[in-house]
Amino acid sequence: MTLSLFQPISIACLLPGIFPQVALFTINEGKHVLYIEETRRFTEADRDRLLDNNISTMYVRSGDFKEVSRFAEENLPLILDRNDVDQTSKSEALIQTSSNYLRDIFSDPENSQDAERCKKLTKHLATYITTDQNISRMILAMGGSSPFAIRHSMQVATMSMLAWSKLFPEKSEDLVDIGVAGMLHDIGMSLILSNVVEDIDYWSTPSVDQIKRHPIEGYVFLKKNAQYNDLVLDAVRHHHERYFGGGYPGGLKGDEIKISTQVIGLSDMYCTLITDRPTRKASTPEEAYKIIGDEDNKCFSTLLFTAFRYVIKFDGSQ
Ligand SMILES: [Fe+2]
Ligand SMILES: [Fe+2]
Repeated sequence: MTLSLFQPISIACLLPGIFPQVALFTINEGKHVLYIEETRRFTEADRDRLLDNNISTMYVRSGDFKEVSRFAEENLPLILDRNDVDQTSKSEALIQTSSNYLRDIFSDPENSQDAERCKKLTKHLATYITTDQNISRMILAMGGSSPFAIRHSMQVATMSMLAWSKLFPEKSEDLVDIGVAGMLHDIGMSLILSNVVEDIDYWSTPSVDQIKRHPIEGYVFLKKNAQYNDLVLDAVRHHHERYFGGGYPGGLKGDEIKISTQVIGLSDMYCTLITDRPTRKASTPEEAYKIIGDEDNKCFSTLLFTAFRYVIKFDGSQ
């Protein structure tokens, strides 16, 4: 994977007066053009000028990205509270910030396993899925150029939370844990594959048997941490079990699989299909639902599978 010299940043993260003093770029005819020099701070007048020109994404040098993303994560409540930028820009800021967290934990799991950090971001995501009218469309576009592992984890977290909030509104106290489970369901991959944050497709790696150890590896790893509850641990361990049998690692069946874990498993399969992978083109939501349902849906409870049809919208609307 080639390293880009610039990284995108949503305009929602550019808080006038306090945004780090770094050079900011726009894109003009495919080229990055210096917009604000690093010798001064981003001001309200700069913000107004960007909004007047309908610019919603700026770019920073890759070398400045760590500082900028740390700033965005620390100031997320302020960013999401802004009423001078639109919802889409705020959602993009949230997705970028959550993707940065995922990149940290997937590239260095031992030193990034801060459960509070994950929960804080997921709480914001919970608000976002209930307020953003374009959520289905956002899930499809999520993570743009990020490696598969990051995009996929972001999508599964958001899709699972969307499904949970619609199918089990009476269990909203579990919504954040559903999001945490979605973010971390494949964390075991980072313990098996050394290059998981490069743009690889898990399932095209040489040893499928080795890859199939990821639920157990992830479970053991998170359990050591002692900050994750049973819902999260169970989903990480059993998201590849199948309702009618034949899954792994336990070969569980039916109601032996917790309903929260079934929701993560179904969202996982759906999100794998709707995203471009290095080895396979993305299916549309409609095709993905049909693929899962082929052969009489041997994977998920008929009740859950039928209800899921009403969670995803084939036209991308909410
Ligand atoms: Fe998995
Ligand atoms: Fe997955």
